Parts: sequence; C-alpha cells; structure tokens
Amino acid sequence: MEKVDVLSGIQPTGLAHIGNYLGALRNWVSLQESKRCFYCVVDLHALTTLPKGKELRRSSLEMAKVLMACGVDPERSALFLQSAVPGHTDLAWAFQCMTPMGDLSRMTQFKDKSADQPKNINAGLFTYPVLQAADILIYRAGEVPVGEDQVQHLELAREIARRFNRTYRNLFPEPQPCLTKAPRILGLDGTKKMSKSQNNHIPLLATPPQLQKLVGKAVTDPQRVRRDDPGRPEICNVFSLHGHFSRPEEVQTVETDCRSAALGCVDCKRRLAENMAQSLEPIRTKAEALEQEPERLLDALSDGAKRAGAVAKHTMDKVRNATGLA
Ligand code: TYM
Repeated sequence: MEKVDVLSGIQPTGLAHIGNYLGALRNWVSLQESKRCFYCVVDLHALTTLPKGKELRRSSLEMAKVLMACGVDPERSALFLQSAVPGHTDLAWAFQCMTPMGDLSRMTQFKDKSADQPKNINAGLFTYPVLQAADILIYRAGEVPVGEDQVQHLELAREIARRFNRTYRNLFPEPQPCLTKAPRILGLDGTKKMSKSQNNHIPLLATPPQLQKLVGKAVTDPQRVRRDDPGRPEICNVFSLHGHFSRPEEVQTVETDCRSAALGCVDCKRRLAENMAQSLEPIRTKAEALEQEPERLLDALSDGAKRAGAVAKHTMDKVRNATGLA
C-alpha cells in the first residue's frame, strides 16, 4: 500500500520565524536527504482565523516560497498547499465521527487559540487536531518533524489511528514526532514560546537592520540592572540564542564575559544580531531569487499537489472500502 515516510505542515498565518526554523523546518530539510517526504502549507487550518479577501492565498504562496528558500527541494519532496488535495477534509470527516469531544477539549492549542480570538471560537478551531491527524495519516506517514507544541496533537493522531484500526481495518501506522535539539524557542519576551500570535517573534526573512532592532528589544537577565552587574547566561534567552547562531568558541567567550560583566547586554545583543544575519543570509538571498521567478514556485506546488493527490486518493479508496462508503 502507498505511503510516505515523513509528513509535516505549517500554517500560513503571518511570517515564518526563527522558532519555526530551529524547531521544525531545519529537520524538514535534513530528513529529505534519506526519506520520502511530503510537506504542506496548511491553508485550511488558517481558515479558522477568518483571513480576509485574497490574504490567505497571498500568505500561503509566501510561506511556500520561504519553505523552498529554507531548502525544501520540490524535486525530492512533494511541496503543496493542503487545500489542493481534497482527501484531507474527506478523511478528517471520517475521523471526526470517531473522536470524542472530551479528547478535543483537552488540547492545549485549542485553549490558547480560544484565548487569542475570544470572539471567534469556532468549530474549526475545536476540530483542528482531527484535520491535522488526517493531514498525516492520509499519507500513512510514520515521522512528523515538529516543535514541542505539536506533540499533544500527535498523541491524538496516534489515538485516532488506533481507533480507526480497531473499529474498521488496520490501515494506519502510529505517527511519531521528530524533534530538533531546540524544540521550544522562546520569544523576545524571554518567557513565552516564540509565536506569530504573541508578536514576540523574529521573522526568518528580517533584514540585518531589522534583526539589530528586534534583538535589541529582547529581554535579558532581569537582575542585570547596571552595565557592570555580572550576568547569568543560564537564565538568559539572548545567551541561548547565541547557542543557535554563534560559533562555539564565541558562545564560550560570551558566557565567560557575561559572568564577569566584561560584556554588556548591548554588545552581546549586537553580536547576536550580526551572527543571526550572517546565518540567515542564504535563506534571504534564495527567497529574493524565488520572488523573481513566481512560476517556479507555482510549478513546484502544482507538481507537489499531483504527487500528494495520488497517494491521498489511494488511502481514501481504502477508507471508503473499510467504512462501507464504497
Ligand atoms: P505552526 O504553523 O504553528 O508551526 C510550524 C512548526 O513550527 C514549530 N514551532 C516551533 N518550534 C519551536 N519553537 C517555537 N517557538 C515554535 N513555534 C512553532 C511547530 O511546532 C510546527 O512544527 N498545527 C500545526 C500545523 C499542522 C501540522 C499538520 C504539523 C497542521 N497539520 C500536520 C504537522 C503535521 C501548527 O500550528 O504549526
């Protein structure tokens, strides 16, 4: 039976940020070296936020461009928009019919999103994790590169797979999360998870001056009030970001000089922003190049949707058969 090894998705609401990259996207790129991978921009999930006019289409294409700029290679991996493959919603309906309301009401992301948009707590927000389970299981994918915040949704996806297999026929594997070494990047506030909705994020395509400005605002050790107060790198988010963007020898010096107060917060942040700009430069350059050839992106998405559609149809035929719809 047709299956892929790896499936993952990202919402097109807002700009991709360094949390997405460090927590998930760099695994998307490395996994395609050895596995059959499918990656999608989950535009149907983004409908839960009621985007206006053509905004959703524009941001979905923008996100697909960023994924290619990060190194997702559409020749190797299928890259597509979720809504271009109708099987996702078909399978989600079958799964909804076997998912207890109680399981969905326990989902942390549902609680967080309901708090973010209290005037629009819609049914789509509630059943969101079921559609996510369908995104994965329609390709019978075993591995899902995500950040830590998605682990609970994957537990539910495994439970749904087990329930379907027990109720009808053994069709689905139990998908496992695949985490990077940095599964939870904190935002500029140094306390909450970096997230578009918290507006505490650093966009992946930020220019060097924008990076200086954003990093300049980052919260550091609250006990370091004066320039010559010694710092505590172990509790400082700016220091932990150095770990992701600066060379190991520099991280070492930053740590020692922070403790002895030889390095002040302003200089520490300036160096971090410079190193970030240097690490992210290839992604920005590639995104600019892709901007010049929009047909390349559209061709990649159309080819990806065809490849994904073929596997999805195969699974849905089996599901129709197993459930008695066919
Ligand atoms: P989304 O769009 O919020 O985020 C995309 C990916 O980035 C990870 N991530 C982070 N990792 C570390 N630190 C952070 N601060 C951080 N913020 C985001 C997320 O864990 C995610 O891997 N529900 C999903 C989208 C989705 C999906 C799927 C994922 C829909 N269908 C099927 C996997 C498989 C979401 O909202 O991700």
